[in-house]
Amino acid sequence: MKPEIYLDNNATTHPSDEVREALSTAINQDFGNASSEHRSGEKTRRAIMQARDSVALLLGAKSESIVFGSGVTELNYWVLTNALRGHQSPHLVTSQVEHSCVIETANILEAEGIRVTRMPVGRDGRLDIDSLTAAVADGGTFVSVQWANNETGVIQPIREIAAICRRFKVPFHCDAAQATGRLRVNFSGTGIDYLTASAHKMHGPTGIGALCVKEPRTLQPLFRGGNQETGLRPGTENTLGIIGFGRAASEREGSFDAAVEVITKLRDQFESLVLSAIPQIEINGSTEDRLCNSTNMMFPGLDGAAIVALLDREGIRCSQSSACTSNRPEPSYVLRAMGLSEDEAFASVRFSFSNQNTMVEVETAAAKLVSIVARLSGFQSPPSQSDYLQGAAKHEV
Ligand SMILES: Cc1ncc(COP(=O)(O)O)c(C=O)c1O
Repeated sequence: MKPEIYLDNNATTHPSDEVREALSTAINQDFGNASSEHRSGEKTRRAIMQARDSVALLLGAKSESIVFGSGVTELNYWVLTNALRGHQSPHLVTSQVEHSCVIETANILEAEGIRVTRMPVGRDGRLDIDSLTAAVADGGTFVSVQWANNETGVIQPIREIAAICRRFKVPFHCDAAQATGRLRVNFSGTGIDYLTASAHKMHGPTGIGALCVKEPRTLQPLFRGGNQETGLRPGTENTLGIIGFGRAASEREGSFDAAVEVITKLRDQFESLVLSAIPQIEINGSTEDRLCNSTNMMFPGLDGAAIVALLDREGIRCSQSSACTSNRPEPSYVLRAMGLSEDEAFASVRFSFSNQNTMVEVETAAAKLVSIVARLSGFQSPPSQSDYLQGAAKHEV
C-alpha cells in the first residue's frame, strides 16, 4: 500500500502522539464514575476538571462556562433550538454558508414557523456586515455565524458581528469548529454569547465537543435525567473523550504560534507549487481572511471528484466538499452561495493541512496533483487543455 498523505484535516484530524498517550494511560487507569463519592470517582472528577481548564484556556473562556457534549453538531442544535423555540417572535439570522448541521437546524425551525434570514456571501465567501446589521435591526432575535468555513477556510468578521449583536442586544452564537486551534479564539474578549468547538478538528478524539456559554442560565438542559455538566447536559461523562480533548487543547495552547507558522508554510508551499505549474487554477474565497491550513482549488473544465479519486489511489486524501455532505451528488452549496456555477463547484477540491504534515508530503502531493491534472486535461474539453499540459509538463515527476 502507498504511504498515506493526509490532506483532509478539515474533515477530521489524526490524534497526536500526546493525545494517544493520554488516552492509553487513561484507559489503563480504571477510572471511576465522576459521580461516585469514593477515591476513583474523585480521580475522575479531577481529570475532568483539569481537561475543562485546558479547553477553557485555549478558548479564552472561564472553566465554568464550558459544557462538554458529543460534538458541535449536538451543541449547535441545542443552542439554536433553545434560543428560538419558545421565543415570542423568534427570528434567526444566519448565513448561507454555515455547516450542514446549522443549515438543517435552521430548516427544521423554519418548518415550525420560525422566521429565518440566511445572509448571502460575496465571491470571497465573506458576509456583508451592512446586510447583517439590517437583518438584525429587522427584528433579529438570535444570530448564528461560523468563525471559519469548513470548505474554504474563509474567516468571517466575528468581532464586528459580535459588536453589532451587542448593540442590538441580540445573542450571538459562533460555530468555531474549524477555527479552534487554528486562530486565536478569545471567547471572553470577543463578546460572543455561545461558542462551539470540537476536539477532533485539533488532533483530539471524535465524539467530544465543548460549548462556551456566557450565561448558563439562558440554557434549558439538552435533556433530563442527571446532574452531570451542572444538569445542562446529563449522562455519565465521556471521560476518555474529555481527557483527550484537554490534552489536545493544552498541546495546542503550548505551541500555538509555532504550529500556525508551520501549517501556513505547508499550505502556502502546496499552493505555490501547484499554481506555478497550473496557473489556470483559481483559489475559491478570500486568500487574506482565511484559515492557515485550508485551500479550496478550482480546476476549470475538470471534474473535482475524479481528481479526488485519482489522488486517493496515490494515497493522497483530500475531499470535494465537507465530509458531512460528500455522499450527496450535488455541487457544494457553499461554493454556489459564493457565486460559482455548478460546473465550477464540481471542478473544485479542498485540501486541508495540519502540523502533522511534512514539507516532503506537501511537495509529493503537489507533484502528483499536477500530473493528474495533466492527465485529465488530456481528455477533457477546453477551456485550457493545451495550457494545462504545457504548465504541467514542466513539473511532472
Ligand atoms: C464548521 C463546522 N461545524 C460543525 C461541524 C460538526 O462538528 P462535529 O463533527 O463535532 O459534530 C463541523 C465538522 O465538520 C464543522 O466543520
